[in-house]
Formats: sequence, C-alpha cells, structure tokens
Amino acid sequence: MNRRRLVVGNWKMHGSRPANAALLDGILQARPVGCEVAVCVPFPYLSETAATLVGSDVRWGAQDCSAHEQGAYTGEVSAVMLAELGCRYAIVGHSERRAMHAESDQLVADKAKAALGRGVTPIVCVGETLAQREAGQTEAVVKRQLSAVIHTLAHCAGEMVVAYEPVWAIGTGLSASPEQAQAVHALLRAQLRAAAPHADVMKILYGGSVKPDNALALFSQPDIDGGLIGGASLKAADFVAICRAAAQ
Ligand code: 13P
Repeated sequence: MNRRRLVVGNWKMHGSRPANAALLDGILQARPVGCEVAVCVPFPYLSETAATLVGSDVRWGAQDCSAHEQGAYTGEVSAVMLAELGCRYAIVGHSERRAMHAESDQLVADKAKAALGRGVTPIVCVGETLAQREAGQTEAVVKRQLSAVIHTLAHCAGEMVVAYEPVWAIGTGLSASPEQAQAVHALLRAQLRAAAPHADVMKILYGGSVKPDNALALFSQPDIDGGLIGGASLKAADFVAICRAAAQ
C-alpha cells in the first residue's frame, strides 16, 4: 500500500519569534518535496507561522484543541479559532497532556471530534509507558486509547491521523526499534480496518526519538507512514533530513 508519508514537527513549548523565523526559513529554503510536511507550534506563534508558510507546501497546526466550541473555558483554544488561523492539524492526546493534564481517553476523543468538526485534522496520539510495556499491556493500552476515538468519531474515524508514541521513547533518545514500532502499527491498522472502510490509506505516524539516522529504517516499515518529531524538529537541518528520509 502506497501512502504518501507525512512528517510533523511538534515544537512543544519551545521557540521564540527570532528562532521560529530562522527555523521556518531553513525548512522553506530546503523545500522538502516528496512527502507531506507540517509544523505544530505553540498557540501564540500560529498567526505568524501561518503568515510565513502560506503559499508554501508546508502546513501548520496546533498542539491541542479544546473539546468545547466556545464559552467560559479560561486558557482553552477552540477548533473554530484554529480553523480561522488556517490550521491543517491539531495534535490531541499527546502523552505529555494525558500525564500532566490528566486527559482521559474520552476527553481526547472529544477533542478529536471538535477538531474534525471544523475541518482540522486531529493527530491522535496513543502509546504505552515503560511500566505498561514491561507488564505486557502495550496492546491493551493502545487499543483502549484508539477505541475511544473510533467510537466517538464514528463514521468520520477514517479522517484522523494516528500517531503511535511509546512514552518511554519520547525525549529519551531511546527510539522503539523499527520492528517494535511496526508491530504496534500493524495492531492499530487492524483496529482501524474494522472501523473505517479506507483504513489502508489512513496515516499512522511513529513518534519517539526520531532522528535523521533512524528515520529511514522506521519509515521503511509497511505500516509506518511518517513521523511526529519532537526534539529533532527544532533544528532545520535535522527536520529536513527526516523529511528527506520520508520522501524516499
Ligand atoms: P522526541 O522526538 O523529542 O522524542 O518527541 C517525540 C514527541 O513527543 C513528538 O510528539
């Protein structure tokens, strides 16, 4: 199955206006082609990022999205606002938010639904902790996390992007091996197949210490359709090298 690969930079809470300008300039100068490319930036930088990237092949998005349309939700940002800023993507359910903001599977699913309802593609993150992996619970955990989203999105489930991010591989320099990642991606693909008629064309990204030197091996796996990149997305040269690996 030939799916066009997607590489998404998750800047997390990094950046400054000058640093962002230099990073985006580096990406645009390199003009990565042959794969889809996006950057998910902190909310305050969305407007400027949009102005810089509009008209290029690089898309932009947010790192979260409220489950609510509008109202008294201090600090939240709605899908309507993201759509207004031209966001193509919104990451939802990142493990850092699940852990630090106690986001439940259902809240993540509701956020995905809110995003999709405004034409913003949710990138739904799933993944097990090291303790869960060591207890043999990887399959049960990722299936439970994905299942909540599949049920909530119902007939629209095929519109999301899924990202498998083992928590133990995030920011640790310890990537899952291509085989370990593929094994989980295959499980997720099978679960999507049961729910969405075109699961074979849905993108399942891998995230967790993806670097220029391991990207190609990961992306060569049959069910890995690109990457969600943290640390390495903050250096233009590394991010571009990863995009080039995805284009092969
Ligand atoms: P690192 O690439 O820094 O491990 O982060 C992965 C991640 O969390 C992307 O969402």
